[in-house]
Amino acid sequence: MDIQRPAHDPALPSRKVRVAVVFGGRSGEHSVSCATAAGVLRAMDRDRYEVVPVGITREGRWVLAPDEPELLEGGRAEVSASNGQLLVPLGSSPAPLVVSESGQVPQELGAVDVVLPLLHGPYGEDGTLQGLLEMAGTRYAGSGVLASAVGMDKHYMKIVLAGHGLPIGPYTVITPRSWRTDPAAALDAVASLEMPVFVKPSRAGSSLGVTKVERPEDVEAAVVAAQQHDPKVIVEAAVSGREIECAVLEGHGDDPPRASVPGEVVLDNPDSGFYDYDTKYLDTAPLTMSIPADLPEAVTDRVRDLAGRAFDALGCEGLARVDFFYTDSGDVVVNEVNTMPGFTPYSMYPALWQASGLSYPELVDELVQLALERPDGLR
Ligand SMILES: Nc1ncnc2c1ncn2[C@@H]1O[C@H](COP(=O)(O)OP(=O)(O)O)[C@@H](O)[C@H]1O
Ligand SMILES: [Mg+2]
Repeated sequence: MDIQRPAHDPALPSRKVRVAVVFGGRSGEHSVSCATAAGVLRAMDRDRYEVVPVGITREGRWVLAPDEPELLEGGRAEVSASNGQLLVPLGSSPAPLVVSESGQVPQELGAVDVVLPLLHGPYGEDGTLQGLLEMAGTRYAGSGVLASAVGMDKHYMKIVLAGHGLPIGPYTVITPRSWRTDPAAALDAVASLEMPVFVKPSRAGSSLGVTKVERPEDVEAAVVAAQQHDPKVIVEAAVSGREIECAVLEGHGDDPPRASVPGEVVLDNPDSGFYDYDTKYLDTAPLTMSIPADLPEAVTDRVRDLAGRAFDALGCEGLARVDFFYTDSGDVVVNEVNTMPGFTPYSMYPALWQASGLSYPELVDELVQLALERPDGLR
């Protein structure tokens, strides 16, 4: 079996490409991931792809999931542990997956050509899953171990972005040890930032555990709240400006990354808060994705250029959404790089590509093809 070549290569045997769609997972974004999987399962061309849906339960158990998108929609979906456990053999080339159910003979499933990890947050988007797939000798879509880990950790992300000369805002980090041994010094460092500040878990996502703090006396409670999600906390000076997002896709061959038109997240009622979890995922908190963002041409160019540079700075592969603030004074500041951005058919990332000429099914194809094209191991 030769999977070195892209699947659209006419010389490739006409066998369908086997794609494991992996979703759910241990993070707070389990149900969001299920919704993404529903969209992707519906979008995949079954004449070209043989799809193996793989769910990860909230406890981290891998199961063979039914190929039924309707079970995964609605925003409250859960991967059920009732199906047989899926075992992933380690080795330097893809080996058959095994389904094991107690009291039954283990069943071999066959190897997959590529994994589409549709997971957000820790144990999915943070390099751990990517490391497992490297150990299993299996190709996968999206960023590798390092870029995934850096993209997940806002502390190291800032260091890498700043190291590449990209514009970021002022921040300070509160490690678990600094908080235990000298909380006063940690609070002093926060006090050196201008209020208001954003207090965030360093490694979370979907705005979980993020608090906007207006008064110094409220910092401590916000730090404790963020620590519920990650013992390491980052505190940033609030940037006053518009939220602009740009979708990036890796280039084919030696081509540079491709940047979409920028979009803007507009809260219909900005006084109600910031772009928090409820706003992102509950229908009750209205927001508009303005695509393309209404920006001066020079700012659009700057956003797209910075998006590609941020992608390369982290060493991203496949896809990433780079989020910016366009400040009241006209600066463009990078907020964060998401290596597995929201990817339901209604999310910003696919919508940005739609507006840039790439439909959702085409985008899913691109991700699979990019993964098939790249060499495994060090690259
Ligand atoms: N420094 C900041 N200045 C202004 N708003 C911020 C800042 N940091 C975060 N926010 C607001 O909080 C939201 C979530 O923060 P973000 O850093 O994007 O975390 P997440 O990884 O959870 O999406 C942002 O979309 C924005 O609305
Ligand atoms: Mg964000």
